[in-house]
Amino acid sequence: MYFAAILAGGSGVRMGNPDKPKQFFFLGEKPILVHTLEKFCASGRFDKVLVLTPATWVQQTRDIIERHCPQYAGAVAVAAGGAARNDTIENAIRYFEDECGGGADDIIVTHDAVRPFVSLRMIEENIEAAERCGACDTVVPATDTIVESANGETISAIPNRSVLYQGQTPQSFNMGALKEMLASLTAEERDILTDACKAFVLRGRPVALVRGDVSNIKITYPQDLRVAEAMLEA
Ligand code: CTP
Repeated sequence: MYFAAILAGGSGVRMGNPDKPKQFFFLGEKPILVHTLEKFCASGRFDKVLVLTPATWVQQTRDIIERHCPQYAGAVAVAAGGAARNDTIENAIRYFEDECGGGADDIIVTHDAVRPFVSLRMIEENIEAAERCGACDTVVPATDTIVESANGETISAIPNRSVLYQGQTPQSFNMGALKEMLASLTAEERDILTDACKAFVLRGRPVALVRGDVSNIKITYPQDLRVAEAMLEA
């Protein structure tokens, strides 16, 4: 089976401590989350599309989906996310196992709810790469020179840009392997783990690259929302 987990469990602090998480902000005529959800539903590739939100937003999210995309409401489920992004992913795995009969051989495509410009091509290529390799990450070549500083004051390294990429989402996995990798992390590793692909990298497991796009922006700061509005109008 094929499962999509739309990660909408964050609080959006960098958006300026809003009274509602940024995934519920309007972009054009509908909430950001709805734009993202529509891409996954329209792909027709998934047995279940699950949206994970803060626990206090579960019912409102159901209402939002019913209001803005009633044609998909039956195919979409909503559940509570977790404290950290990887906890949200683990909640998704648990839901697919408990409620959908999912198992180790299934494919899970995880995607940030706040990346509404994901394309059908990226979704298709994620599924193909996760089936072939067990794990994949969507990336674009780094455009800025990346400077590393171990102490925050002076440069410790300037890695060769030609081998550097910026990670986007989707990130997609064989569900059994993902569960195993996340469960294998020590408490210390969980603290430094910013994304699920890193769990595979830490254990020396391959993660395939899928070509992303500069348009696949993540809405993090208020100015990102203005950029997204302009992109939508264009
Ligand atoms: N996310 C999630 N569960 C969490 C934290 C984040 O599902 N516990 C989701 C967010 O909702 C978002 C994506 O992961 O769609 C990327 O998160 P990011 O924007 O980096 O984090 P937020 O917590 O939303 O924002 P901030 O870091 O500014 O507070």
